[in-house]
Amino acid sequence: MKILIDTKKNTLKINNKSINIYSKKSFEYISELWVKLGWNQKYSYTFTWLGRPIIQIPEDIVRLQELIFQIKPNKIVETGIAHGGTAILFASILDQIKNKGKVIAIDIKIRNKNLRAIKNHSLSKYIKLFEGSSIDSRIFKNVKRKIKANDKVFVFLDSNHTFDHVYNELIMYSQIVSKNSYIVACDGVMNLVNDTPRGKRNWSVDNPIKAIKKFLKNNENFILSEPNWLFNESKLNKRITHSPMCFLKKIK
Ligand SMILES: C[S@@+](CC[C@H](N)C(=O)[O-])C[C@H]1O[C@@H](n2cnc3c(N)ncnc32)[C@H](O)[C@@H]1O
Repeated sequence: MKILIDTKKNTLKINNKSINIYSKKSFEYISELWVKLGWNQKYSYTFTWLGRPIIQIPEDIVRLQELIFQIKPNKIVETGIAHGGTAILFASILDQIKNKGKVIAIDIKIRNKNLRAIKNHSLSKYIKLFEGSSIDSRIFKNVKRKIKANDKVFVFLDSNHTFDHVYNELIMYSQIVSKNSYIVACDGVMNLVNDTPRGKRNWSVDNPIKAIKKFLKNNENFILSEPNWLFNESKLNKRITHSPMCFLKKIK
């Protein structure tokens, strides 16, 4: 892609087509490039949520909050804890929504420092941790034991982002997500960033979006459904995100 920005003429020239730099389209092109450059700079590794590092970009955090606030689950299952930022985010939302509920969070390796910080956090009563692979059947059995028939379950997949792993997670965790709730499958950005210095070329074929597409093709109980923005006084309608095509709604 060749982009030429002229701030004197207020134009953005892309592949020989010139558009107004202040147009929505121009904002979308530059945002996509910004996402790519930011990913390479590890921009998402610069934030915390209530004291814990959260490996997300701000818009993804806000959109997730908007969706969870609408769905109002009482159980949130998360794969991929890292420092615990998203687990604490979910706990803080449960705390605000109903003052009850559980985040059931799984990671293949919970580092001692992170484990201590999560356990000592003021929201720790909302969090149940499991160590092991998210697709290990024993771990999944333990997760299922924490879920009751009338629970409203929301699922957030942010562990290993290979095609195989995400596809297996989708097959397993689709069994526990509630009707009209969502599975959010993160990091579809991998295809976009495969050719950056920090990226890997094989991500163009080995990525979560490929898994999401295959899952949706074989599973009529789910649709791709971008949640409505709860507030929008602009003409914008595209998320600036590390997780395109991430919202899978269970419809039956
Ligand atoms: C991208 S980080 C999670 C970031 C976290 N959700 C956040 O936003 O702050 C990915 C995590 O997935 C974990 N992981 C990798 N493979 C896994 C697997 N097979 N099962 C569970 N967790 C896994 C890694 O240990 C790492 O902590």
